[in-house]
Amino acid sequence: MAKIARQHNIRLHIDGARIFNAAAALNVPVRELAADADSITFCLSKGLCAPVGSVIVGSRDFINKARRVRKSLGGGMRQAGILAAAGLVALREMTGRLVEDHANARRLAQGLATIPHVRVDLDRVRTNMVYFELTEDAPLNPEQLAERLKTEYNMLMRPYDPRRRNFRVVTHYYITREHVDLAVEAIRALLSEPVAAN
Ligand SMILES: Cc1ncc(COP(=O)(O)O)c(C=O)c1O
Repeated sequence: MAKIARQHNIRLHIDGARIFNAAAALNVPVRELAADADSITFCLSKGLCAPVGSVIVGSRDFINKARRVRKSLGGGMRQAGILAAAGLVALREMTGRLVEDHANARRLAQGLATIPHVRVDLDRVRTNMVYFELTEDAPLNPEQLAERLKTEYNMLMRPYDPRRRNFRVVTHYYITREHVDLAVEAIRALLSEPVAAN
């Protein structure tokens, strides 16, 4: 893409919201993924675990223009230091541990794959996200499963796409390997109940 963009004198921006997860999954430095771009944005929240914040990166001239645009759109913020502090923790301490989230996601997917009425495509689990579907003949639909997980296990899991009867589950710093195992066992228990006879 960078080559084509250059040939046509077009600048290339990367929406790298989750680029640190991508880099961890590909085992290459972010620097390498971003090398051919003129600018890039990435999120400090999501996998990197800061409560809020994104960073835009580019040439000095580009950043000066971006600052002006941000200000003119009402995006100025005076007390941003406290958010920047969390962002520094995100960059310094969270990027190196994303492989743990990825390993937990894989563990979750592998556990889910052993549960009757659950469909999960293990090939699609490459970072910290797991999509899984409930089959038509499952004793619970996704909404019912989510409700039971909430009330009986204090586990929050929101169905993702009702048409596909699926969930998107994301692992992160606060989700441990033990949580993953608990989730698998909770889902297994709820889906192995006999279907009500009506
Ligand atoms: C792919 C992608 N790009 C950009 C953003 C925007 O991030 P922010 O709202 O922090 O600017 C998000 C946030 O959800 C995202 O998922």
